[in-house]
Amino acid sequence: MSAILPLYPLENPMPRASADAPIGIFDSGIGGLSVAQEIATYLPNERILYYADTAHVPYGPRTDQNIRELTAHAIEWLYRQGCKIAVVACNTASAFSLDYLRSHYGDDFPIIGLVPALKPAVLQSKSKVVSVLATPATFRGQLIKEVVHHFAEPLGVQVLPVTCLDLVPFVEAGEQSSEACINSLKKILQPVVDQGADYLVLGCTHYPFLKQTIQQLYPEQFTLIDSGHAVARQTSRILIKNSLVSEKLQNNQIRLKCFTSGNNASVLQPVLRHMILQNITWSIENIVDKLN
Ligand code: DGL
Repeated sequence: MSAILPLYPLENPMPRASADAPIGIFDSGIGGLSVAQEIATYLPNERILYYADTAHVPYGPRTDQNIRELTAHAIEWLYRQGCKIAVVACNTASAFSLDYLRSHYGDDFPIIGLVPALKPAVLQSKSKVVSVLATPATFRGQLIKEVVHHFAEPLGVQVLPVTCLDLVPFVEAGEQSSEACINSLKKILQPVVDQGADYLVLGCTHYPFLKQTIQQLYPEQFTLIDSGHAVARQTSRILIKNSLVSEKLQNNQIRLKCFTSGNNASVLQPVLRHMILQNITWSIENIVDKLN
């Protein structure tokens, strides 16, 4: 891994955030909202500040170093907003950034990352063949390689990696059930069905938004699994460990405040409308000027 210069030396560290500060969540785009929804549901007294780097999505085709720098920039923004903890709700960003971020911020600003939920799939697979759908960058990272090495290999489970650069743009454009998206999914998933995979790990936080389309295409063939709920539980554990659990919300506080770095806040709207169904109040704002 190449060295990264600290983008933001901690010469002016923020005062340690208190329990009623928000949880910061970051993704390259709208994908991390699948994680934000799990966290908002599992931790009903917590407020969330969500940062979508829509100016630079997709991260999947970018270089390791570029992904690390964009992620550092985003997490620093959440830190400067006074968040008490940050969740890197992006497998691609996590693959290259967690060590750097944790050593940069230390214990005062806990960082939670994601890795595709391969472990539960491996433990439950009957056919001993599981497939992981993730970005090429996620497969280049060390985190997924370690899970394969520690869990799949000892149990003799074959892991079939699958990537498709079209999927994140389809989800960002709200085209997850379009004919073009269905064709892309068939092209990459039919071979893993033919090889007998009984679990499909959705190893990118954008992909839970493809669940319905995949289930309609392959209703029987595999069980779909993602990391959202496990991350919500891990966030809860880390908050408890650091005495950062919010006891209650103030009246009328917005639960989920979203910010986009591109001049396109409205891309989040279709996903956010579903949050209302769960009584999660939200707002969105562009921060394009503040970042530059
Ligand atoms: N949502 C992201 C992930 O979990 C990445 C998508 C992208 O920007 O390519 O990997």
